[in-house]
Amino acid sequence: MCRACPDGASHPQRTSLTAAVLLLSLLCNTMIALGLLICVVLRAFSAQAKVVTSFNECKEFFYKGTEPSGMDQNAKRICQMFEDSTRLYYATLYSVPHRIPLYSAYTLDPACSSTPGIYCKDKWYLEPQISQPASEIIHMVRENKNNQNAFKANQAISPDYKNTGYDRGHLNPNSFQCGLGRNATCTLTNAAPMEASFNRYRWSKWESTLKKVLTENLTRDGASAKAYIVTGTVPSANDRIPQGNSDDPERVTVPSHVWTAVCYKHTNDRESFSFSYVGRNQPAESGISLTAVSNLNKWLSEIYSQLSGTPRLIKIFADNCGEDNNKLSIIQKEFQKLINPPVNQGVQMSPCAQNTLGNDYYWHDTVSGNWDYCSSPLRHSKARNGKRCRSNHACGRYGEKYNWCYTDDKDNWDYCCTLDDCYSAVNDQTCRVDHPCGYYGEKYLWCYIDDQGNWDHCCKGCGN
Ligand SMILES: *[C@@H]1O[C@H](CO)[C@@H](O)[C@H](O)[C@H]1NC(C)=O
Ligand SMILES: *[C@@H]1O[C@H](CO)[C@@H](O)[C@H](O)[C@H]1NC(C)=O
Repeated sequence: MCRACPDGASHPQRTSLTAAVLLLSLLCNTMIALGLLICVVLRAFSAQAKVVTSFNECKEFFYKGTEPSGMDQNAKRICQMFEDSTRLYYATLYSVPHRIPLYSAYTLDPACSSTPGIYCKDKWYLEPQISQPASEIIHMVRENKNNQNAFKANQAISPDYKNTGYDRGHLNPNSFQCGLGRNATCTLTNAAPMEASFNRYRWSKWESTLKKVLTENLTRDGASAKAYIVTGTVPSANDRIPQGNSDDPERVTVPSHVWTAVCYKHTNDRESFSFSYVGRNQPAESGISLTAVSNLNKWLSEIYSQLSGTPRLIKIFADNCGEDNNKLSIIQKEFQKLINPPVNQGVQMSPCAQNTLGNDYYWHDTVSGNWDYCSSPLRHSKARNGKRCRSNHACGRYGEKYNWCYTDDKDNWDYCCTLDDCYSAVNDQTCRVDHPCGYYGEKYLWCYIDDQGNWDHCCKGCGN
């Protein structure tokens, strides 16, 4: 029906078939006009509102006070304020249709203690103004049964994550913040479904390494430097939680990737530097690597253009923040020093897949050569070049060094793909950000997987 505060773009207009509907729709439009007027008046008095039309109030969290460009125009801007209402702690761009943040922008104070707080536990927060734009509550509120029901139409709530195998993964990590800034990261508007072992093992390792590297340099440079960080998601095309058999399924989009872009701004511009990295939100993959922010921009632009069907030009930092100072290789060395080669223990060796012959469970290979149940039913039974696995033979190693499956009843087989996207090579590998899957003159799909000229087969052609 007619909503009091139509937000931005067009209100869905129906072509009315009968006079009654026409009259109703006329009435409705008048009310919308009235509602708009009320909205304008309300907005004028709510300069402190946390869900804001521009990030002006919290621009201190953005390099050069400028938000990333090219992101979803209809997403909600939140200047994150904790219950104490004393200050703003960071900024978030939130997608209501996906019910996840597209990014959070924050800074790192090197003076923060390094206690690894298990801070949120059962203390999570929701954002009143995402669901009730006219609400006068200008800070996040503690989640409870009542507000869950009142707010859930426009935002994710904790029960959406329950028993899904996905964590409420932080974008702005609590370990980067001090004091109540940590509590302020425990809002569901700063969280997206992250596969448990990705979130707790690989992504958190990169987070702690990033913190170490930045803390070292910020401590040395003191007041001359500041670190601006943006961590974002790439919403997947059709993975949503809770999964099918829940009461209220498919509410929250699972990101296919999580990325972080860092701008280290020094008062002496030649000392500034920037870099970024992308992680696939998957259980069994080690391939997170550092790359220039301009590469991330390019990759995000391509993937977001594909997802939205319209060209997007994404730029995270106004002038790529010191990228020309060519410090990427120094940073790469610092990261390498700190990130030990991944230990396999506890990590799955193959993607989860469903075996439809036996019981209806999902399983994966383990390090010891056995198999185990999967925590989350991810959909991985695609083979190379767009083929599908035979329905009774899911992807697995079956004693080989690579993942494969039978693709028909004649025992033809092929390599398996983890994801059917433009940056997935076989065997859980990720294409180089500047080289998506394509034919590039060959008869098969392939991409470079590193800077040394190594390549592998791909699952999907992406127009090259
Ligand atoms: C902030 O979080 C810590 C750790 O969970 C908790 O002990 C403290 O009570 C929280 N503070 C507020 C004001 O909620
Ligand atoms: C960061 O600080 C360390 C230690 O002072 C230094 O070795 C390194 O070169 C710095 N990194 C950059 C990118 O300037």
